[in-house]
Amino acid sequence: MKSSDPSIWITGAGGLIGHCLMQTCPSTFRAVGILRGDLDLLDATAVEERFKAEQPSGIIHCAAISKSPVCQQNPALAHQTNVTLTQHLAQLSESIPFLFLSSDLVFDGTQGDYRESDQPNPLSIYGETKALAEELVLRNPNHTVIRTSLNGGQSPTGDRGFNEELRRVLRNGQTMNLFTDEYRSPMAAKVTARALWELLAVKASGIFHIAGAEKLSRYDIGRVLTERWGESHGNILAGRLKDYNGPPRAPDTSLCCDKASQILSFPLPSFTQWLKEHAEETF
Ligand SMILES: NC(=O)c1ccc[n+]([C@@H]2O[C@H](COP(=O)([O-])OP(=O)(O)OC[C@H]3O[C@@H](n4cnc5c(N)ncnc54)[C@H](OP(=O)(O)O)[C@@H]3O)[C@@H](O)[C@H]2O)c1
Repeated sequence: MKSSDPSIWITGAGGLIGHCLMQTCPSTFRAVGILRGDLDLLDATAVEERFKAEQPSGIIHCAAISKSPVCQQNPALAHQTNVTLTQHLAQLSESIPFLFLSSDLVFDGTQGDYRESDQPNPLSIYGETKALAEELVLRNPNHTVIRTSLNGGQSPTGDRGFNEELRRVLRNGQTMNLFTDEYRSPMAAKVTARALWELLAVKASGIFHIAGAEKLSRYDIGRVLTERWGESHGNILAGRLKDYNGPPRAPDTSLCCDKASQILSFPLPSFTQWLKEHAEETF
């Protein structure tokens, strides 16, 4: 990495995917991690000053209120962070690549195997903020929206990946209720990061789905992980959406990634295949 290499801001660099991006930055780019401790991205003036001073060559925007329950509890903060802040960064990035991390939860989950051209219809505040932000980002034809699904891995704070959450619960001897009839396309955050760098390198614009090549229920994700950890899955309780009484949930937001696969240099793996091929990794 040379100081003359294009510098790419990674917002949310202290989170799961942002941290992976920092670790996997190709030699042709220089990743600049934007951490909350250094810069509160909601401070528009401070953001503009830093942008002006550093003049990044691109931004991969991972910072977000990424937990759906937090968004449900604080819709104003969710909107300010996920929508207003995203719009501000996209405007500053008018003439440079801007990759925005969105979510499979922009869909209502009635169909599954969603393509980029399918119509969003979010059921949660989190999904709503992502869908709104997508529209704002896509006003610039050179900008990029990446929808991903459940990502796992090792986050700096140890509590961001779904695997980290499940492991903590099981280690504490608690139980977790996981739906047998709610499906996602889980993925290792490292793979998402690799795909993001490749899409940035070719300046791919528009919407792309980046997720695992296998649809799994939340319960099966839990089962696969406990098997990997050599633990009993007795503390994972099989839940059913019909018995659940909380805010609406999308039953099947699995993503079809054919469009991205035509650009990427590697196949997006299934979650179970990736785990098998990376048996040595802490996950
Ligand atoms: N991980 C997934 O399964 C998944 C699935 C679909 C989409 N996505 C999207 O992908 C992106 C990255 O996800 P992730 O899992 O890496 O999220 P994450 O672990 O929650 O990281 C988000 C980061 O953004 C930071 N942040 C939030 N507000 C900020 C602010 N005002 N100023 C500075 N930093 C701020 C957070 O800091 P604090 O830790 O201090 O709050 C955190 O480090 C998000 O947009 C998320 O919605 C993730």
